[in-house]
Amino acid sequence: MRDELQLNIEPMDAKHDEFLVLLKEIKASSDSEFLALFESMIEHTKEHFSFEEEIMDTHNFYDKKEHFDEHENLLNEMQYFYEKAKKMKMFGRSYINDYAYEKFKRHVTNIDSQLAMFIKQNEIKL
Ligand SMILES: [Fe+2]
Ligand SMILES: [Fe+2]
Repeated sequence: MRDELQLNIEPMDAKHDEFLVLLKEIKASSDSEFLALFESMIEHTKEHFSFEEEIMDTHNFYDKKEHFDEHENLLNEMQYFYEKAKKMKMFGRSYINDYAYEKFKRHVTNIDSQLAMFIKQNEIKL
């Protein structure tokens, strides 16, 4: 699964790998574990996004507005489904099973990839 999402920026790839591991765990979780794992996925995503945002701020990334907005949208959506899942697990399950990976993949390949290229071109050491 990693190959198609690999950006060859180690700290970014590490965060992405951790996310995929968490996602796999949630998919396989029982109903009693589901919400706690969903919550840890949100926490992990906050850290992951802040990590990238700090790089963009520090190095004045040219497209930071778009990237920050995308992060906000993704996080809001995750939180929305988490809140829904508290009342009805089915909503959370369908987000996790049918959408979460595609959304994540789209972000990494379309948006994070531009940041990765910027990091490489400017020889930024992380
Ligand atoms: Fe990322
Ligand atoms: Fe990102």
